[in-house]
Amino acid sequence: MAKAVTHYSCQTCGSCFPKWAGKCEGCGSWNSLVEEATVDSFQKKTALKAQKITFSSLEDISPPLPRLLTGINEFDRVCGGGLVPGSVLLVGGDPGIGKSTLLLQVAAAISGKAACAYISGEESADQVRLRAKRLQVASSPVQLATTTHIGDILKSLHNTSNVAVIDSIQTMFVEALDAAPGSVSQVKASAHELIRFAKKYGVTIVIVGHVTKEGVIAGPRVLEHMVDTVLYFEGERGHHFRILRSVKNRFGPTDEIGVFEMTDKGLAEVANPSALFLSHTREDVTGSCVFAGLEGTRPLLVEIQSLIAPSSLPTPRRAVVGWDSGRLSMILAVLEARCGLSCGNRDVFLNVAGGLRISEPAADLAVAASLLSSLAHTPLPKEAIFFGEIGLSGEIRPVNQQEARLKEAYKLGFKTAFIPKPTKPFTMPEMTLIPLAHLSELADYLDEKSKPRKVVGG
Ligand code: TYD
Ligand code: MG
Repeated sequence: MAKAVTHYSCQTCGSCFPKWAGKCEGCGSWNSLVEEATVDSFQKKTALKAQKITFSSLEDISPPLPRLLTGINEFDRVCGGGLVPGSVLLVGGDPGIGKSTLLLQVAAAISGKAACAYISGEESADQVRLRAKRLQVASSPVQLATTTHIGDILKSLHNTSNVAVIDSIQTMFVEALDAAPGSVSQVKASAHELIRFAKKYGVTIVIVGHVTKEGVIAGPRVLEHMVDTVLYFEGERGHHFRILRSVKNRFGPTDEIGVFEMTDKGLAEVANPSALFLSHTREDVTGSCVFAGLEGTRPLLVEIQSLIAPSSLPTPRRAVVGWDSGRLSMILAVLEARCGLSCGNRDVFLNVAGGLRISEPAADLAVAASLLSSLAHTPLPKEAIFFGEIGLSGEIRPVNQQEARLKEAYKLGFKTAFIPKPTKPFTMPEMTLIPLAHLSELADYLDEKSKPRKVVGG
């Protein structure tokens, strides 16, 4: 009798080991190894006899099929200009963030132009119908099915659909494998089958993947390298805004975002997100600062707020929402070492308004300005925006797409911009530009403004 071949795979990082251990050598997580049939044994079962492959020239490729536009502009842009026939997209996100809602809307929008199947492994057909009614898309010709068996799905999709949404990959299974749905090997094998099918028959497949507690899809990030496009659907709990972010795209730019708002009738596109992330009643408050950021190709203005208050704790708090806490520590250290301003025994709170998460270093100057304004108890000019990267010596470095940022700011009525000192001559007559070479120049500027109530040091 053939010996069953199994291995132990880490549900967090996907590393495989011949023996069980309490700790994964790959990523260091505990209790994450689970016994599974090897993918090898699965492949052996389904392997075909080796055949000669035929080579072709690069020129032989027939002209690419036109992209499928859904008509949901925010979605189309994040995909790089619509869905590419035969491509596989992975849409990841926390459970309950709105993936099924978004993709049912996308399926409904596309079903007028192409045959589109929506296959749910999580909800019953009635539940999906109820949702469709709520989204007011019940009359669109979406082919709805509920199953979790990949074999059945592929057999049914053949020659009937151009686009298929699989919700979600964690519920799907291939029969040849003994492991439970949702385990690394099932998720991998199911996705592998779907991808093979998509490429062979030119069907576009959109796979939904839940992000688990550790922040990776299906436990391990096993799918990211297999699929053509990876989109994450994000949002802060308690906020209505949802952001669709492209992190990998073989057919378009990455770092592109689409902004949606969750309403009682599903997800609505937000055409002017800058207005959304700026608070509506901007008054003269200390610690509030507008950052002219860039998300993908799109400039975006966001408000950064900080609060510095005396601390009663031996180790003062540093709380950050929407930005990197390591980067905040760095800015605080630069302020102390290069500008002589210390927050030593005070609590520092930093918040990016609207539930957005910023990862650009260009926000450094805006964060520093917000902190300086809090420290000096002086509001920043109301109609000013900030951007620039701060180095460890306190120097302010140029950032990319300066013009696009300034244009967006001008469009929204801002008149002054604190920017990094340009390396080559740069003008923008519509706005007052205040070039800064060093952070101390900004500290001096605020110092001047706050003369009567100057507060320096901790
Ligand atoms: P869902 O798409 O089921 O999330 P996921 O598939 O990512 O798990 O979204 C569920 C949430 O969205 C739920 O909390 C209710 C909310 N929602 C609305 O606010 N309005 C709507 O029209 C719909 C359909 C859902
Ligand atoms: Mg869902």
